[in-house]
Amino acid sequence: MNLQQLLADAGQRLEAAQLAYGHGTNNARDEAAWLLLWQLGLPLDSDLDALAERAITPEEQAAVLALMQRRIDTREPAAYLTGEAWLQGVPFYVDRRSIVPRSFIAELLADGSIDPWLDEASRDVLDLCTGNGSLAVLAAMAYPEVQVTGADISPDALAVARINVDRHGLQDRVKLVESDGLAACPGPWDLILCNPPYVNAQSMASLPPEYRAEPGLALDGNTAGSSDGMDFVRALLRDAPACLRPDGVLVLEIGNERTHFEAAFPQLEAVWLDTSAGDDQVLLLTLESLLTLLPSSQASAP
Ligand SMILES: C[S@@+](CC[C@H](N)C(=O)[O-])C[C@H]1O[C@@H](n2cnc3c(N)ncnc32)[C@H](O)[C@@H]1O
Repeated sequence: MNLQQLLADAGQRLEAAQLAYGHGTNNARDEAAWLLLWQLGLPLDSDLDALAERAITPEEQAAVLALMQRRIDTREPAAYLTGEAWLQGVPFYVDRRSIVPRSFIAELLADGSIDPWLDEASRDVLDLCTGNGSLAVLAAMAYPEVQVTGADISPDALAVARINVDRHGLQDRVKLVESDGLAACPGPWDLILCNPPYVNAQSMASLPPEYRAEPGLALDGNTAGSSDGMDFVRALLRDAPACLRPDGVLVLEIGNERTHFEAAFPQLEAVWLDTSAGDDQVLLLTLESLLTLLPSSQASAP
């Protein structure tokens, strides 16, 4: 047996099991390739064509197929099985205490899309809802002059973030804080990044097992009793103006919830940022636009 044959077999097994994807891959073959390469100890960016004829021992075959079976039986995202997720070519530790990182804000940090709203005076960046700390780490890498704070309400998620900050040697530049929304991180901030829980109630009720394996707190945007997924976002947009510097901006991911977002904030002027998933997933809000949401008695810049 060679690697190409084993990969074909593994891919067919995943395909037949009708799994859900979206945690780093979006189809059975790519997921099988990821798990196979990881199990064989090969780099995840290996050229599969170049490796096609590599001989597979019976032990390797058994180990790879056992891992595929675990993926099928547990319905856990591949990243929980391998303990690793990659964003923008950077590896992050992950386990069930935090969501598998896949934020499109990572692309915007890497491709410079946010840079026009920053300048040399920008010093303080908050990654609110930091989860495993990936965006905080990527922000520190993208902006070598800034100090970054990663905040999350979940001590479990922060324990995972700690591992990633240490792994990338960023202890001096990335601080981690337990906070409910902005409560424990008043700023002022030049940039707030936030990939919050925003899934609406109907979608929460029909999540596939791979997504139910993640902390509910990370996905459920209805914890204050609404059903549109915007509960966390409503509180954030109310509190953010008091925490931003005059030129500060908020970069907010809302996934597939643009309709609910625009229904909740119909007058708000947002800049929609282009990502590989389209221009309706991540938006940028200036302090000026956020102030338009406040009652006029409170709407003066801090
Ligand atoms: C969608 S995950 C994003 C994680 C990470 N930023 C990423 O992109 O992979 C949302 C995160 O928000 C956190 N969270 C939920 N409610 C929160 C709150 N009230 N205050 C702060 N963090 C909260 C969850 O614990 C979870 O880690």
